[in-house]
Amino acid sequence: MQSLRRLDKNKNIKNTKILLRVDFNVPRNSEGVTDATKIIKVKEIIINFIKRGAIVILCSHLGRPQVKGKEGFSLAPIKIAAEKIIEAEIAFIEKDFKKNIEEGIKENKKIFLLENLRFDIGEEKDSDEFAKTLASLCDIYINEAFSCSHRKHASIHGITKFVDSYAGETIQEELVALNSIVSDTQKPITCIIGGSKISTKIDLINNLLPKIDFMIIGGAMANNFIKYNNYEVGQSKIEENINSTIKNILQQAESNNCKLILPTDVVTAKTFEEKGINKTLDEVEKDDMILDIGQETTNQIILVLKQSRTIFWNGPLGFFEKDSFAKGTNQISLNIAELTQEKKLISIAGGGDTFAAIKKSKKEKNFTYISTAGGAFLEWLEGKILPGLKVLEIKN
Ligand code: ADP
Ligand code: 3PG
Ligand code: MG
Repeated sequence: MQSLRRLDKNKNIKNTKILLRVDFNVPRNSEGVTDATKIIKVKEIIINFIKRGAIVILCSHLGRPQVKGKEGFSLAPIKIAAEKIIEAEIAFIEKDFKKNIEEGIKENKKIFLLENLRFDIGEEKDSDEFAKTLASLCDIYINEAFSCSHRKHASIHGITKFVDSYAGETIQEELVALNSIVSDTQKPITCIIGGSKISTKIDLINNLLPKIDFMIIGGAMANNFIKYNNYEVGQSKIEENINSTIKNILQQAESNNCKLILPTDVVTAKTFEEKGINKTLDEVEKDDMILDIGQETTNQIILVLKQSRTIFWNGPLGFFEKDSFAKGTNQISLNIAELTQEKKLISIAGGGDTFAAIKKSKKEKNFTYISTAGGAFLEWLEGKILPGLKVLEIKN
């Protein structure tokens, strides 16, 4: 296992400004946060630093504002949820970070949250300029966002060049848990990939194929495969220009003797408010959206689960936030939980939304392990060294 730099638990941190990179990119809807697991995870760490007299500056990204625009991506609503969880006041810093934090400290404020880091163009570019701006805010930087450590971004990667930097407790815990479980995995190994981050995750599929026996693809990820096989996908979420990637995956699966399982039926609707209809692939119409896997597909996946000894799962199999489209994800969650409890399966799931979906099915306690990391979990599984962890390694 990688050895990462840790902050001495007994170090005097009184009045030390600690910049804590957290992952507050939480599942949410128009009313607020729908699953606060990622915030709860760092609660005790924040409280402990405050008790030791430190000043905590929280920073995180939220969504993809550089692609979709800033509207709806402010961390202001997340601050309100975080204050309730941490049971302490958090000062929200929208701009002029340094000046406003210094003023806040004079007013005896102890916890700050910066506005969405991705509002600054330098964050995703890993620009030295933005990394320096962030570094200038603190005496110590700590990464508590394993789930973001696959991103070579300024708040994860670049910043470590400019300030004393450490891996936080949650990163250590996550690595210890994942390493101990994964070193004990048995074949057949099945990977389930769903969700909606097609562009981020599709390339990972190829690298995982040689390591596993079954690859199940669902969620919006499956829509591109369905389209590639010349079926109508109507208004479904898809990614453009990835036919060659799909062709490659199909070839790789065959040459690695990995069985690829794609939906044979789906649940569609014309609006998100409808109930949804179970359709075979050739029944999908031009104005339909594919929003869940169908019952025949679910049954087929359950058969694969029963033949497996290890399951890795990232990405809900449908638009699970709406009950009408949560059935596929729910049934898979219930079956994995049951097989795990019967000791027939080791089950490891990852992803903020996957965690929320499993929680919705009330089975989060019955999996072997669930990580809040999605893309980072898959990259770690591939055996990649995550850039955000690489820069925190202890050098001999
Ligand atoms: P995770 O956070 O677990 O890594 P992602 O962020 O990749 O997962 O994807 C989760 C999102 O994918 C959820 O909001 C879910 O509603 C969405 N999703 C899954 N299937 C579909 C689908 N068929 N159409 C649209 N969205 C979908
Ligand atoms: C996640 O939700 O997996 C992390 O917050 C990373 O988000 P990103 O895919 O937008 O970088
Ligand atoms: Mg997600």
